Amino acid sequence: MRFVLGVVVAVGLVGCGGPDVQGVDAVERIGQEIVGGVEARQGSHPWNVSMQQQGSHFCGASIIRVSATKNESDIVVTAAHCVYDGTSGLTVSAGVHDLGRPGAGAQTVRGVRTVYHPAYDPDTTMNDIAVVKLEKPLKFSATVQPILLPLAGETVPDNVEATVAGWGLTREGGYDTSPVLMQVGVPTIAHRQVAASYRSQGIHIDPYAMLGAGYSQGGKDACQGDSGGPLFILGAQGKPVLQGVVSFGVGCARPGLPGIYARVSNYIPWINTQVRLLSVTARP
Ligand code: ARG
Repeated sequence: MRFVLGVVVAVGLVGCGGPDVQGVDAVERIGQEIVGGVEARQGSHPWNVSMQQQGSHFCGASIIRVSATKNESDIVVTAAHCVYDGTSGLTVSAGVHDLGRPGAGAQTVRGVRTVYHPAYDPDTTMNDIAVVKLEKPLKFSATVQPILLPLAGETVPDNVEATVAGWGLTREGGYDTSPVLMQVGVPTIAHRQVAASYRSQGIHIDPYAMLGAGYSQGGKDACQGDSGGPLFILGAQGKPVLQGVVSFGVGCARPGLPGIYARVSNYIPWINTQVRLLSVTARP
């Protein structure tokens, strides 16, 4: 699922498209980027990468470590709905702040394999997580670094500050993604409350698969084009930990309708298995 701009224009649907979003993301507000946020400081989210097709951004993703020692990685984590419809010509750009002006630290590589969670369901957006294997590793540098994964099954506390960042659409009715990386802080919300809010929309929030974050009064949120990107919370030693993958919302930043993220801590064994399988080099 990527944005189908024609659809946005013609039908007024904000879609990073995908089967999920048709129902879930049909909105009145078109094209805010990360809503209510600020421009990220250059290089302050070195794990955050832009996934592109034909040179245009369609989703975010996060670099993860594939080995304890290597100073490079060829795996990024993203949302299943970002890659579900196929990824021909997929490239991943790391070390970039302004997509229009990549700069010296930028690394762009092709995606060679994408694996979305086998239980991903486009109708319910359950298990909205995927990994992408890159043609060659991204070399870690000042502007390219992995983000830590949570422990398997780790609980995310309610009401703690989380940060989401991305290059979403830039303006109401916009046709363009944000050229610069934006970020916003949003608190995590108790499952009970998230589930109750979404029940009124006829949307089931699964406590295992999903995590909600936002303000009850709205105003700050991820939005279309931020999908696949990271929601992180500072863990021990103040290090960012990838606790969520931008998945869906109803509109963006609406009161009582927080952003919904794939709950990464419940996919750690699956992610580790994929990393292992994808690191086996094919031999002739
Ligand atoms: N599905 C959207 C995308 O593909 C992300 C929507 C997130 N929406 C939200 N209100 N948090 O970009």
